[in-house]
Amino acid sequence: MSRRDFLTLGMSAVGLLGMLQMGGMTLQFLGPRRVEGEFGGLVEAGLAASFPPASVTEFPDGRFFLARTSDGGFLAVSRRCTHLGCAVSWEASQNQFACPCHGSHFDLQGDVQNPPAPRPLDTYPISVRDGVLVVDTAKAIPRDQIAPEQLLYV
Ligand code: FES
Repeated sequence: MSRRDFLTLGMSAVGLLGMLQMGGMTLQFLGPRRVEGEFGGLVEAGLAASFPPASVTEFPDGRFFLARTSDGGFLAVSRRCTHLGCAVSWEASQNQFACPCHGSHFDLQGDVQNPPAPRPLDTYPISVRDGVLVVDTAKAIPRDQIAPEQLLYV
């Protein structure tokens, strides 16, 4: 191998390594960000017993509401409206979620009470670790309708 060929091969290898590194960094930058305790990761909501029945608690960093029905079931309800994606808020005085953009309303379980939202609010899976509710905000679950099996009873 000539000296020129050796240098060309070496420069090509260095260039290829640089391109691979740039590609890896780009993929890492574009990939979903998963941070424990924030939206996109696992969020510890707290002890199940600390949430009274018929209550809704907002978790702004997790972008969800923890709803507890009057019979004790839990549901992690996404705050993203199913119409065009605005953030809904919980209106305690009217016992409903309200979307500020086009006026959709949802009940405590996220079911549509007033269109134009086409379907109930999404939910997130809830697991229990030593009595603590943990919500996985990386996995939104779309629903066409609400059903009793969507609730978690601890
Ligand atoms: S985005 Fe919520 S009603 Fe349109």
